[in-house]
Amino acid sequence: MDLVVVSNRVSRGNPNEPMTGGLAAALLPVVEQSGAIWVGSPDQADSGGLKESSVEKLGRGKLVTLDLPAEHFSRYYKGFANSALWPTLHSRPDLIDISDLDYFSYREINAIVADGLLQFRNHTTFWVHDYHFLPLGAELRKLEIERKVDIKKTVGFFLHTPWPKPATIRCLPYHVELIEAMLAYELIGFQTDEYRQNFIDYVGPDFGSMIENSVVISRCGRRTRCGVFPIGVDADKFAQYSEQAVSHPFVSSLRNSLNGGKLAIGVDRIDYSKGLDNRVKAFDHLWAEQPRSISLLQIATPSRSDIKAYRDLQSFVADLVRDVNLRHGAKDWTPIRYHNEGFSQSVLAGLYRTAKVGVVTPLCDGMNLVAKEYVAAQDPNNPGVLVLSKFAGAAKELDGALLVDPYDIEEMSHVISRAISMSPYERSSRWNRMIERLRGYTIQQWFSDFVVELENIQAEKTAGKSI
Ligand code: F6P
Repeated sequence: MDLVVVSNRVSRGNPNEPMTGGLAAALLPVVEQSGAIWVGSPDQADSGGLKESSVEKLGRGKLVTLDLPAEHFSRYYKGFANSALWPTLHSRPDLIDISDLDYFSYREINAIVADGLLQFRNHTTFWVHDYHFLPLGAELRKLEIERKVDIKKTVGFFLHTPWPKPATIRCLPYHVELIEAMLAYELIGFQTDEYRQNFIDYVGPDFGSMIENSVVISRCGRRTRCGVFPIGVDADKFAQYSEQAVSHPFVSSLRNSLNGGKLAIGVDRIDYSKGLDNRVKAFDHLWAEQPRSISLLQIATPSRSDIKAYRDLQSFVADLVRDVNLRHGAKDWTPIRYHNEGFSQSVLAGLYRTAKVGVVTPLCDGMNLVAKEYVAAQDPNNPGVLVLSKFAGAAKELDGALLVDPYDIEEMSHVISRAISMSPYERSSRWNRMIERLRGYTIQQWFSDFVVELENIQAEKTAGKSI
């Protein structure tokens, strides 16, 4: 395969190791199966510093990590990417907290990665992922001119996060030059049509672009196609993992400890976009009305802990959980089992299957693969119910879920109560609708749709040249 995939975080593919995020988990199987080259940052030892660059085999593909200077990496990752772009893209511009140096380092890392990609100049299609690399396509084009290298590649970009309304994007420092740089990509993919439309609204005539048929942006002789590619999961793999994990010691001891009681599950990185505090408050409300109706297993993986907003949230949520457990708990019953650690996909699948309610209630989320994984892992003969935020991209597809407004704590508690008492018939018919969708549009399909679109653009360019 002639494809180079680029993302900040990469994965080495041990199914028994904790997964470090949706993007890395999603790309791993498709790189392994397709034989693509996957380029990314060296292990970050979660911010304890960068490890060495390396080249390794990954299934039929290859994993290449680049040497990135530590002095810029922290300002790029912790600074501009996660303290300016992440809050903006998740409609929290009030949390932007950066300096000009952070932006400088973000641009530097993008330029260095572009330089590192020149070793693959003979490959024809490049696919860049996520907000860490908004200007990477433009840096590649710059190098092409400066070094007089004839790179005939087509470069596409996929955004895993939401893209908010133009008014929110205008709060982002350097938004004009960043979005100008994004237009060096020939294909930009979004998770939902709403995010694609928000982007088009920003880059319209006020930005000096022409929009053709709501999908192609023309500006200064360049054309960028915008598409919608909702990311999927490997539904069959999750189903298989979940059957196998029933006998995993952690899963079976959890099941035994329930003493026949019902379990809900939440799985999130501790991030202000995930609505963890509102979720805990919704269960608090539920238990005030219906004591012991269900317990909650909340897996809350620490994330980006060297950013103050994340550290503050970690202690805030831990305090909230402690308080709720004190008020509703008893010697023989723990309302919230709170785990601050990551789990492997294979164990997670078993936990999803054990839980009769999946609660996925982010305030804002590009897609949220936990929602899809929860559905894929259910027992077809006795499936659980998914309670899903209407502000997750997954809500556009999973029409069998019970949708909630994650800001409305009382409503969430009533919907969870409805999920607990839903009839087996309704649970099955809702689940069937969702699993059909997941089986019909898998992670492999998502990958191939984007790559085919890139290859079409490449073919059009080649044909244009020969005319
Ligand atoms: O787009 C979201 C994402 O890139 C996903 O991979 C994951 O949910 C998260 O961000 C991971 O963040 P980090 O690499 O900073 O841990």
